[in-house]
Amino acid sequence: MNQITPPPKVEIIPSSAPFSEAQRSWLNGFFAGLLSTDGPTPLSAEQGAAVMQGPVGDGDDGEAPWHDQTMPIAERMKLAEGRPLRRRMMAAMAQQDCGQCGYDCHNYSDAIANKSEARLNLCVPGGKETARMLKSLYEEIDKAPPAASPDTAAAPATATPAVGGEPGRSRDNPIAAKFVSRRLLNKPGSEKETWHIEFDLSGCGLDYVVGDSFGIFARNDLGLVDQIIAMLGASHTTAVRGKTLREVLVDEVSLSPAPDTLFELISYLTGGAQREKARALAQGEDPDGDAATLDVMAVLQKFPNVRPHPEAFVEALEPLQPRLYSISSSHNATPGKLSLTVDCVRYVINKRRRLGLASTFLAERIQPGDELKVYVQKAHGFALPQDPKTPIVMIGPGTGIAPFRAFLLDRRATGAPGKNWLFFGHQRSDCDFFYQEELNAMKTAGLLTRLSLAWSRDGDKKFYVQDRMREVGRELWTWLAEGANVYVCGDAKRMAKDVERALVDIVAQHGARSTDEAIAFVAELKKKGRFQQDVY
Ligand SMILES: Cc1cc2nc3c(=O)[nH]c(=O)nc-3n(C[C@H](O)[C@H](O)[C@H](O)COP(=O)(O)OP(=O)(O)OC[C@H]3O[C@@H](n4cnc5c(N)ncnc54)[C@H](O)[C@@H]3O)c2cc1C
Ligand SMILES: NC(=O)c1ccc[n+]([C@@H]2O[C@H](COP(=O)([O-])OP(=O)(O)OC[C@H]3O[C@@H](n4cnc5c(N)ncnc54)[C@H](OP(=O)(O)O)[C@@H]3O)[C@@H](O)[C@H]2O)c1
Repeated sequence: MNQITPPPKVEIIPSSAPFSEAQRSWLNGFFAGLLSTDGPTPLSAEQGAAVMQGPVGDGDDGEAPWHDQTMPIAERMKLAEGRPLRRRMMAAMAQQDCGQCGYDCHNYSDAIANKSEARLNLCVPGGKETARMLKSLYEEIDKAPPAASPDTAAAPATATPAVGGEPGRSRDNPIAAKFVSRRLLNKPGSEKETWHIEFDLSGCGLDYVVGDSFGIFARNDLGLVDQIIAMLGASHTTAVRGKTLREVLVDEVSLSPAPDTLFELISYLTGGAQREKARALAQGEDPDGDAATLDVMAVLQKFPNVRPHPEAFVEALEPLQPRLYSISSSHNATPGKLSLTVDCVRYVINKRRRLGLASTFLAERIQPGDELKVYVQKAHGFALPQDPKTPIVMIGPGTGIAPFRAFLLDRRATGAPGKNWLFFGHQRSDCDFFYQEELNAMKTAGLLTRLSLAWSRDGDKKFYVQDRMREVGRELWTWLAEGANVYVCGDAKRMAKDVERALVDIVAQHGARSTDEAIAFVAELKKKGRFQQDVY
C-alpha cells in the first residue's frame, strides 16, 4: 500500500484566539484533518515512482461512455461502475475538458489517482458534487488491497501536474496583465448583460493563438466581504495568514458556494438541532431544502448564533479558483491585445443579490489601468484548420461567438482564402446582435461568406441556431462534402447537444444516410478533428 506521510502538526488557531486550551487543541486537530481533505499530501518523486512501478495496464479498455457534459453525475458514476478508481474519478468530473483545472478530465483523474495532484477541488464546472465524489473515491485508495490493486497502481505516467512552467501559461503560474476597457454589447431593452472586455498584454509579453482561452483570477466583491466581516463580529484589519482579514476574503477564498468544511466547522461550534443540521449539510444532505442556495454569507445567516474565529473561518473556505473565457481577438491581427466576450452572472435568492465572481469582477469591479493575474489556457483540439483554404462553419449563439470573432479576425490578418460561414443567434435582433457592424462589414468585404442568424425571442415561437441550420441543410451538407470543418461554441448543457443532433439530421437527410450512418459520419468528423467544440 502507498504510504502517505502524516501531515505535520498544524497550529492554525492562534494562542490569542478566544478558546480554551482543550478547544484550541481540538480545533487545531480538526483543521489538520481538514487541510488534508483539501488534498492528500503529494508524493515525493521516489514515492511517485514507486506508485508508477505498479502494472501499467489496469485492464481498463480506455472507453469513457460517461464523457458527456450533459449527463448527470449519478448516471456518469453508474456507467463507470466496476472500472478502476482513476476511471471512476474521471466520471466524477464535469466532462467538459475545459482545462480550468489545468488538465483535461482524463489527466486530472489520473493525476489524483497516482497522487501527483493533491487538490481534489479544481473542477469548477463540477462544483461541490464533483469535489465530494472525488473525496469519497480518494478515500478508497488506501483501503484498496496493496500492490496488486490495479486501482491504485495503474494511473499512467502521462498524468503530470500542470505546475510551474513559463509565466502566464498555466493556472499555477499566472502573470499580471492590464485591464484596458469594457463595452456593453447589448442595447437597451435586452435581458442580457454581455461585455466586450479588452486587455493589454504588451507589458507581460504573453501571446496566444485563436481558439485558446484566457484564465482570470478575480477578486470578491468588497461589499459582500465587509458584510461577512460584520457578521463574524470581526474587524477588517484582523490579522489572518499574515494579511488583513479583508485582504484574505477579497483575494484568496471563495465565498460561494459554501463548502462542506464550513458546515463541519459550524457543527463543532454549536449544539443540539443546529449541530445536527450543520452535520447533515456537511454530509451533502439537505435538511431544509435550501442547500443549493447556501453561499458563505447565507450560512452565517442560517446559523446566527455561531461566529467562528476569523482564522478558523478562512481555513474552512475553499481557495478562489480562476475562471476561463474564450478569447475573442487574434494576436496576429492585434499583437499585444486580447479581448473577451463575457456574459454577466447576476441573480437574486431570498431577496439578496448574488454576483457571479469573475463576470461581475470584469463587468464592474476592475478599473481601466488595473492589473490582474491571468494565464493563457491552450486549447485542446479547438483551432483553425492547418490548411488556410479549408472552409469553416462556425456555430456560436450568445457568448459562443467569442472564438469565432477571433477566427475571422485571424483569417483576415493572415489572408486565409478559405470560406467562412457563421451561425449566430441570441434573444432579440434589435438589442442582442453582438458585433453587428463588424460582422456586416466582414460580410460586405467577402471575408464572411455567409452569416445565418436566429433570434429566439423575436417571434412567438423559439427559433434557435439549429433551426436555421436545418433550413439551410442542403447548403450545409455541400460545405461538409467540400471538406469544411464545423465548430460549436457556447452553452454545453442544451445547445451543444441540440446542434449536434441537427447536424446528424442534416447529414442523414441531405447526405442520403440512415440515422445510424449519419451518427457514425458525425463521429468520424469528430475523430478527424473536423467537428470541434468549445462548450461550457
Ligand atoms: C473553456 C471555457 C470557456 C468559457 N468561455 C466563456 C465566454 O467566452 N464567455 C462567458 O461569458 N463565459 C465563458 N465561460 C464561462 C465562465 O468561465 C464562467 O463560468 C462564467 O462567467 C460564470 O463565472 P462567474 O465567476 O461570473 O460566476 P460564478 O461565481 O462561478 O457563479 C456561477 C454559478 O452561479 C450559479 N447561478 C448562476 N445563475 C444562477 C441562477 N439564476 N440561479 C441560481 N444559481 C445561479 C450557478 O451555480 C453557476 O454555476 C467559459 C467557460 C469555460 C470552461
Ligand atoms: N444552466 C442553464 O440553464 C443555462 C442556460 C443558458 C445559458 N447558460 C450559461 O450562461 C452562460 C452565457 O450564456 P450566453 O450569454 O452565451 O447565452 P445563452 O443564455 O446561452 O443564450 C444564447 C442564445 O441561445 C439560445 N438557446 C437556449 N437554449 C438553446 C438550445 N437548446 N439550443 C440553441 N440555442 C439555445 C437562447 O435562447 P433563449 O434564452 O431565448 O431560450 C439565446 O437566444 C453560458 O455559460 C451558458 O452555459 C446556462
